[in-house]
Amino acid sequence: MRAVVSIGGSVLVPDLNADRVADYATVIERLAVEGISLGLVVGGGAIAREYINVARSLRANEIELDGMGIAATRLNARLLIAALGERASPSPATEYEDAGAALRRGDAAVMGGVTPGQTTDAVSAALAEYVGADLLIYATSVAGVFSADPAASADARKFEALSASDLVDVIADIEMNAGASAPVDLLAAKLIERSGMRTIVLDGTDPERIERAIHTGEHEGTDVVPEGSTDEPTYWTSDD
Ligand code: UTP
Repeated sequence: MRAVVSIGGSVLVPDLNADRVADYATVIERLAVEGISLGLVVGGGAIAREYINVARSLRANEIELDGMGIAATRLNARLLIAALGERASPSPATEYEDAGAALRRGDAAVMGGVTPGQTTDAVSAALAEYVGADLLIYATSVAGVFSADPAASADARKFEALSASDLVDVIADIEMNAGASAPVDLLAAKLIERSGMRTIVLDGTDPERIERAIHTGEHEGTDVVPEGSTDEPTYWTSDD
């Protein structure tokens, strides 16, 4: 089985804590030992926001700000690489081809951001499409995909499952509301729709939830089910 896991910066490094990064690496190592091929895409989190805010007040343009964000995601990715040691390539892949080559060698592929104008949500969806992943997991700091921003609206309800085209509609609605943040951005949702990628959005603040979802498909978040798919996937590695 091959999975791509997007690990939000706010999940992996809400603050700089070696034990937390080591906990994620332990889960990744366990999965790798079981023969699961893993692509990992790390987000920027607080450090990205801090650099972007300072640079914005220095009047950097949006592309320059994205460059700051990409650098922060790669710095966080390097922390995960440090914790993974020889199971990962020595630096974050900056091209999908390089990440694909790492997987072919049997390494865990680790990436951060790639190009301005998007976030690591889209990088994760593109990597999953590129390497033909069976499953894409967004390990975020929210519990799944909601009908509205749960922080702002008491009526927001969590979807247990939705189709990729419904995901695109829900995210487009959320992104129209200034200040609201979607768990997955619109470009990522469109890539998921295009590729028909089986996707899970879950609260990834405990890495064992990622492991359980990969083993059994069970989780408390949201399943994004490819159009026309009625069958349960057969690739879960365990029944418990
Ligand atoms: P993140 O993927 O962490 O964005 O990239 P985010 O959605 O703001 O963070 P979370 O999910 O809430 O933690 C941080 C920033 O890096 C730039 C963007 O400016 C993004 O906001 N970035 C990232 C790019 O420009 N291109 C990329 O491919 C990735």
